[in-house]
Amino acid sequence: MKKLRVGVLASGRGSNLQAIIDRSLRGDIDVELAVVLSDVADAEALERARAAGVSAVHIPPGRFKTKLEPEIEARYVEELERHGVEVIALAGFMRILHDEFLERYAGRIVNIHPSLLPSFPGLRAQKQAFEYGAKWSGATVHFVDAGVDTGPIILQAAVPVRDDDTPDTLAARILEEEHRIYPEALQLLAEGRIRVEGRRVLIDPPSGPRKGGERP
Ligand code: GRF
Repeated sequence: MKKLRVGVLASGRGSNLQAIIDRSLRGDIDVELAVVLSDVADAEALERARAAGVSAVHIPPGRFKTKLEPEIEARYVEELERHGVEVIALAGFMRILHDEFLERYAGRIVNIHPSLLPSFPGLRAQKQAFEYGAKWSGATVHFVDAGVDTGPIILQAAVPVRDDDTPDTLAARILEEEHRIYPEALQLLAEGRIRVEGRRVLIDPPSGPRKGGERP
Protein backbone atom coordinates (compact mmCIF):
# COMPACT_ATOMS: atom_id res chain seq x y z
CA MET A 1 0.00 0.00 0.00
CA LYS A 2 1.18 3.53 -0.76
CA LYS A 3 2.31 5.12 2.48
CA LEU A 4 0.45 8.04 4.01
CA ARG A 5 2.80 11.01 4.32
CA VAL A 6 2.41 12.38 7.83
CA GLY A 7 3.85 15.62 9.19
CA VAL A 8 4.12 15.87 12.97
CA LEU A 9 3.96 19.16 14.87
CA ALA A 10 5.43 18.86 18.36
CA SER A 11 6.73 21.22 21.03
CA GLY A 12 8.24 18.89 23.60
CA ARG A 13 9.23 15.41 24.67
CA GLY A 14 8.01 13.68 21.52
CA SER A 15 7.10 10.30 22.97
CA ASN A 16 4.02 10.03 20.75
CA LEU A 17 6.17 10.98 17.79
CA GLN A 18 8.54 8.18 18.82
CA ALA A 19 5.69 5.67 18.95
CA ILE A 20 4.71 6.65 15.40
CA ILE A 21 8.35 6.49 14.24
CA ASP A 22 8.88 3.06 15.82
CA ARG A 23 5.75 1.55 14.35
CA SER A 24 6.36 2.99 10.91
CA LEU A 25 10.00 1.83 10.87
CA ARG A 26 8.86 -1.64 11.91
CA GLY A 27 6.46 -1.59 8.98
CA ASP A 28 3.44 -2.06 11.28
CA ILE A 29 1.71 0.99 9.83
CA ASP A 30 1.59 2.39 6.31
CA VAL A 31 2.91 5.76 7.40
CA GLU A 32 5.92 7.68 6.19
CA LEU A 33 7.09 10.41 8.53
CA ALA A 34 7.56 13.23 6.03
CA VAL A 35 8.70 15.96 8.41
CA VAL A 36 8.64 17.03 12.05
CA LEU A 37 8.12 20.73 12.77
CA SER A 38 8.58 22.41 16.13
CA ASP A 39 8.29 25.87 17.59
CA VAL A 40 10.87 24.92 20.25
CA ALA A 41 14.51 24.86 19.11
CA ASP A 42 15.67 22.24 21.61
CA ALA A 43 12.53 20.09 21.65
CA GLU A 44 13.34 16.43 22.23
CA ALA A 45 10.90 15.72 19.40
CA LEU A 46 13.31 17.29 16.91
CA GLU A 47 16.18 15.18 18.24
CA ARG A 48 14.09 12.02 18.02
CA ALA A 49 13.19 12.84 14.41
CA ARG A 50 16.81 13.48 13.43
CA ALA A 51 17.94 10.28 15.16
CA ALA A 52 15.45 8.39 13.00
CA GLY A 53 16.58 10.14 9.82
CA VAL A 54 13.38 12.18 9.54
CA SER A 55 13.55 15.83 8.40
CA ALA A 56 13.25 18.05 11.44
CA VAL A 57 12.68 21.77 11.22
CA HIS A 58 12.56 24.39 13.94
CA ILE A 59 10.30 27.31 13.11
CA PRO A 60 10.90 30.20 15.53
CA PRO A 61 7.58 31.03 17.19
CA GLY A 62 7.43 34.79 16.77
CA ARG A 63 6.16 37.29 19.28
CA PHE A 64 3.26 35.53 20.99
CA LYS A 65 3.06 32.90 23.69
CA THR A 66 0.47 30.56 22.19
CA LYS A 67 -0.65 32.26 18.98
CA LEU A 68 1.25 32.10 15.72
CA GLU A 69 1.53 35.14 13.49
CA PRO A 70 0.25 34.66 9.91
CA GLU A 71 3.81 34.85 8.51
CA ILE A 72 4.91 32.10 10.89
CA GLU A 73 1.95 29.92 10.07
CA ALA A 74 2.82 30.40 6.41
CA ARG A 75 6.22 28.87 7.16
CA TYR A 76 4.53 25.77 8.55
CA VAL A 77 2.46 25.51 5.38
CA GLU A 78 5.59 25.96 3.26
CA GLU A 79 7.40 23.10 5.02
CA LEU A 80 4.35 20.83 5.01
CA GLU A 81 3.86 21.40 1.29
CA ARG A 82 7.56 21.02 0.51
CA HIS A 83 7.50 17.62 2.19
CA GLY A 84 4.29 16.48 0.51
CA VAL A 85 2.40 16.05 3.79
CA GLU A 86 -1.07 14.54 3.47
CA VAL A 87 -2.05 14.34 7.13
CA ILE A 88 -0.85 16.51 10.03
CA ALA A 89 -0.52 14.90 13.45
CA LEU A 90 -0.28 17.23 16.42
CA ALA A 91 1.68 15.59 19.22
CA GLY A 92 2.10 17.90 22.16
CA PHE A 93 2.08 20.98 19.93
CA MET A 94 1.51 23.95 22.23
CA ARG A 95 0.43 26.57 19.68
CA ILE A 96 -2.98 27.62 18.47
CA LEU A 97 -3.56 27.15 14.75
CA HIS A 98 -5.79 29.65 13.00
CA ASP A 99 -8.82 29.26 10.75
CA GLU A 100 -6.95 29.68 7.50
CA PHE A 101 -4.58 26.85 8.40
CA LEU A 102 -7.41 24.66 9.72
CA GLU A 103 -9.47 25.25 6.58
CA ARG A 104 -6.57 24.48 4.28
CA TYR A 105 -6.08 21.10 5.97
CA ALA A 106 -9.72 20.43 6.92
CA GLY A 107 -10.24 16.77 7.79
CA ARG A 108 -6.51 16.17 7.64
CA ILE A 109 -5.33 17.37 11.07
CA VAL A 110 -5.48 15.04 14.05
CA ASN A 111 -4.49 15.40 17.69
CA ILE A 112 -3.93 13.17 20.71
CA HIS A 113 -5.34 14.26 24.05
CA PRO A 114 -4.75 12.61 27.43
CA SER A 115 -8.36 12.27 28.62
CA LEU A 116 -11.63 10.75 27.53
CA LEU A 117 -13.02 13.77 25.70
CA PRO A 118 -15.28 15.66 26.05
CA SER A 119 -14.19 15.38 29.70
CA PHE A 120 -11.16 17.40 30.69
CA PRO A 121 -10.12 19.32 27.57
CA GLY A 122 -7.21 21.75 27.75
CA LEU A 123 -4.00 21.60 29.69
CA ARG A 124 -2.98 19.00 32.32
CA ALA A 125 -5.94 16.76 31.52
CA GLN A 126 -4.58 13.87 33.58
CA LYS A 127 -4.37 16.06 36.69
CA GLN A 128 -7.83 17.46 35.99
CA ALA A 129 -9.30 13.92 35.90
CA PHE A 130 -7.38 12.90 39.03
CA GLU A 131 -8.49 15.94 41.01
CA TYR A 132 -12.08 15.64 39.84
CA GLY A 133 -12.16 12.13 41.25
CA ALA A 134 -12.97 10.41 37.96
CA LYS A 135 -12.76 6.61 38.18
CA TRP A 136 -11.85 6.27 34.53
CA SER A 137 -9.81 8.45 32.24
CA GLY A 138 -7.93 7.69 29.06
CA ALA A 139 -6.75 8.96 25.73
CA THR A 140 -8.51 10.36 22.66
CA VAL A 141 -7.41 10.79 19.07
CA HIS A 142 -9.59 13.36 17.36
CA PHE A 143 -9.79 15.59 14.32
CA VAL A 144 -8.80 19.17 15.01
CA ASP A 145 -11.36 21.93 14.63
CA ALA A 146 -11.33 25.55 15.78
CA GLY A 147 -12.22 24.67 19.39
CA VAL A 148 -9.98 23.38 22.17
CA ASP A 149 -10.01 19.56 21.89
CA THR A 150 -13.53 19.60 20.43
CA GLY A 151 -13.16 17.92 17.02
CA PRO A 152 -14.80 14.61 16.03
CA ILE A 153 -13.43 11.64 17.97
CA ILE A 154 -11.59 8.94 16.00
CA LEU A 155 -10.41 6.52 18.70
CA GLN A 156 -10.44 6.38 22.49
CA ALA A 157 -8.92 4.10 25.10
CA ALA A 158 -10.04 4.03 28.72
CA VAL A 159 -7.80 3.50 31.73
CA PRO A 160 -8.86 3.08 35.36
CA VAL A 161 -7.93 5.62 38.00
CA ARG A 162 -6.64 3.61 40.96
CA ASP A 163 -6.85 4.56 44.62
CA ASP A 164 -3.08 4.65 44.94
CA ASP A 165 -2.56 6.73 41.78
CA THR A 166 -0.91 10.12 41.67
CA PRO A 167 -1.36 12.45 38.70
CA ASP A 168 1.98 11.15 37.46
CA THR A 169 1.20 7.43 37.68
CA LEU A 170 -2.14 8.07 36.01
CA ALA A 171 -0.44 10.09 33.26
CA ALA A 172 2.03 7.25 32.67
CA ARG A 173 -0.79 4.70 32.31
CA ILE A 174 -2.63 7.00 29.90
CA LEU A 175 0.56 7.60 27.91
CA GLU A 176 0.90 3.88 27.18
CA GLU A 177 -2.54 3.97 25.60
CA GLU A 178 -1.69 7.14 23.67
CA HIS A 179 1.28 5.35 22.15
CA ARG A 180 -0.98 2.50 21.11
CA ILE A 181 -3.96 4.36 19.65
CA TYR A 182 -2.22 7.25 17.85
CA PRO A 183 -0.39 5.01 15.36
CA GLU A 184 -3.56 2.93 15.07
CA ALA A 185 -5.62 6.00 14.10
CA LEU A 186 -3.02 7.00 11.50
CA GLN A 187 -3.21 3.51 10.06
CA LEU A 188 -6.99 3.84 9.71
CA LEU A 189 -6.42 7.10 7.82
CA ALA A 190 -3.75 5.42 5.68
CA GLU A 191 -6.22 2.66 4.82
CA GLY A 192 -8.90 5.23 3.96
CA ARG A 193 -11.30 3.61 6.42
CA ILE A 194 -12.44 6.75 8.21
CA ARG A 195 -15.71 8.51 7.37
CA VAL A 196 -16.94 11.60 9.17
CA GLU A 197 -20.71 12.05 9.49
CA GLY A 198 -21.38 15.20 11.43
CA ARG A 199 -19.74 14.66 14.79
CA ARG A 200 -19.48 10.91 14.35
CA VAL A 201 -16.41 9.24 12.93
CA LEU A 202 -17.28 5.89 11.40
CA ILE A 203 -14.67 3.24 10.75
CA ASP A 204 -15.18 1.05 7.73
CA PRO A 205 -14.19 -2.60 7.96
CA PRO A 206 -10.86 -3.51 6.39
CA SER A 207 -11.09 -4.21 2.70
CA GLY A 208 -8.83 -6.14 0.36
CA PRO A 209 -5.61 -4.53 -0.86
CA ARG A 210 -6.28 -1.29 -2.71
CA LYS A 211 -4.75 -0.58 -6.05
CA GLY A 212 -1.91 1.97 -5.84
CA GLY A 213 -2.86 2.97 -2.32
CA GLU A 214 -5.92 4.87 -3.51
CA ARG A 215 -7.91 6.60 -0.80
CA PRO A 216 -11.48 7.76 -0.89
C1 GRF B 1 0.69 13.94 25.44
O1 GRF B 1 0.21 13.64 26.72
C2 GRF B 1 -0.45 14.30 24.53
O2 GRF B 1 -1.63 13.62 24.81
C3 GRF B 1 -0.62 15.77 24.78
O3 GRF B 1 0.68 16.26 24.97
C4 GRF B 1 1.52 15.22 25.44
C5 GRF B 1 2.67 15.13 24.50
O4 GRF B 1 3.61 14.20 24.95
N1 GRF B 1 -1.33 16.41 23.70
P1 GRF B 1 4.78 13.74 24.00
O5 GRF B 1 5.51 15.02 23.57
O6 GRF B 1 4.18 13.03 22.83
O7 GRF B 1 5.66 12.86 24.82
